[in-house]
Amino acid sequence: MTELIHAISLTVNGVRRTHGAVARRTLSDFLRHDLGLVGTHVGCEHGVCGACTVLLDGQPVRSCLIFAVSVNGRSVTTVEGLADGSELGPVQRAFGECHALQCGFCTPGFLTTITAGLAENPEPTRDQAVAMIAGNLCRCTGYHNIVDAVLRAAELIRERS
Ligand code: FES
Ligand code: FES
Repeated sequence: MTELIHAISLTVNGVRRTHGAVARRTLSDFLRHDLGLVGTHVGCEHGVCGACTVLLDGQPVRSCLIFAVSVNGRSVTTVEGLADGSELGPVQRAFGECHALQCGFCTPGFLTTITAGLAENPEPTRDQAVAMIAGNLCRCTGYHNIVDAVLRAAELIRERS
């Protein structure tokens, strides 16, 4: 049986994109396989690890749990959209400065999660930084340096504004 293809139009990283997808296509697969944005990683595929986190209208969501058809007309930011043009964005720079990644598989999800978290709370305490990343799993770093990176990113964002 042939499945119906739905036209999905959305803004991704500031660019209007349109592509067809079947109704059961997840947003993570749509971004990676249909739009070629492979920066969004897929780990558990059931909403636990946070690796697939993207921003949907500025709010962090697990793209493995969302159907692409449901984001028609909305705005998505992936890790590819976090840079300032050719320069890394502040959260990305903070990760480099604080050595907050090892294998890097979890990193796109942390970067998007922290971007949204700092937009909501630009001056987190260390405890608040820990809470900010509580929904994301990392099997390499032990989290300490990621918490440092949250606080450093907050500084960089404040310096910029
Ligand atoms: Fe989506 Fe793990 S791949 S939460
Ligand atoms: Fe390897 Fe986080 S850096 S899983």
